[in-house]
Amino acid sequence: MRFKDQVVFITGAASGIGRAAAIQYAKDGALLALSDWNATGLEETKGLVAALSAKVQTYQLDVSNYDQVKSVIQSVQTDFGKIDIALNNAGIGAKNAFRTGEHTLEDWDRVIAVNQTGVFYCMKEELVIMKEQGSGAIVNIASIAGLKALPRQIAYVASKHAVIGMTKTAALEYAKYGIRANAVCPVFTNSPMLEEMFSVREDLREKLVHTIPVGRYGETSDIVNAIQWLSDPQSSFITGLSVPVDGGQTA
Ligand code: NAI
Repeated sequence: MRFKDQVVFITGAASGIGRAAAIQYAKDGALLALSDWNATGLEETKGLVAALSAKVQTYQLDVSNYDQVKSVIQSVQTDFGKIDIALNNAGIGAKNAFRTGEHTLEDWDRVIAVNQTGVFYCMKEELVIMKEQGSGAIVNIASIAGLKALPRQIAYVASKHAVIGMTKTAALEYAKYGIRANAVCPVFTNSPMLEEMFSVREDLREKLVHTIPVGRYGETSDIVNAIQWLSDPQSSFITGLSVPVDGGQTA
C-alpha cells in the first residue's frame, strides 16, 4: 500500500477536502491523526475511516489558538511516535464579499487568524518534530487566490498568498533536514465551503464554472490526488512548489 504505516496529521478533517484526504490516506494504509474544531464532523470522519485504517485518533482543535495547536501536535507525537505527513488544510472564507474599502475588520481578523496564522502555528510545531525525525512532508492548502486576485476577497487572497510564501520559506529552511513543504492551490471545488458560497449567491453556480477551461468544478478527489503526489516519497526532489489544481484557470 502506498502510504502503509505513514502517520498523517490533517487539520480541517471534519469536512470537504480534509475528510476526502483522510479517507484516501486510510485506504492507502496510513495511520491517521485527524483534527478539526467541529467535533461532530470529526467523529463522522472517524467513523468513515475507522474500518479502513489500522489506527485513527481525533483531536478537537482550533488552529488559530496557539496553545491548542502546540498541545494537540505534541499529543499526536506521543500517540503515534512520529508525524510523516502534515496536511494543513483547515480554512474559512469571509462572511461577506465586500470591496476593500468596505471589507469588515471582523472578516479580516477571522480569515487571517485561521488561514494564515493557523498554518504558521501548525508548521511551527510540526517542523520541530520533523526536524528531530530528520524527515517529513508538509502539504499546505492554499488556493488559486494565493496566485491571483479575487475581487471582494482581500482577506482570503492575502491569507492564501501568505500560505504560499510561508510554504516556500519553510521549504528553504528545512530542505537540509530531509523535510519538504509544498502547497496545493485548488480552484472552486465541490465541498461544503463552496455550497455555502452558492447558498448566498446561487447565480454564481452557473457563472463561475465558465471561468474554468476544463468546464467543471473541482472534486475533492482532484485535490487529494495532488496532495498525495506531493506527500509521496516519489516527489522527494519537489519542495517549495505551489501546484494549481484548477482545470487550467490560472493558465
Ligand atoms: P470545508 O468548509 O468543507 O472544510 C474546512 C474544514 O476546516 C471544516 O471541517 C472546518 O470545520 C475546518 N475549520 C475551519 N476553521 C477551523 C479552525 N479554526 N480550526 C480547525 N478547523 C477549522 O472546506 P473545504 O473546501 O474542504 O476547504 C479546505 C481548504 O481548501 C481550505 O483551506 C480552503 O480555503 C481551501 N480551498 C477550498 C476551495 C473550494 O472551492 N472548496 C478552493 C480553494 C481552496
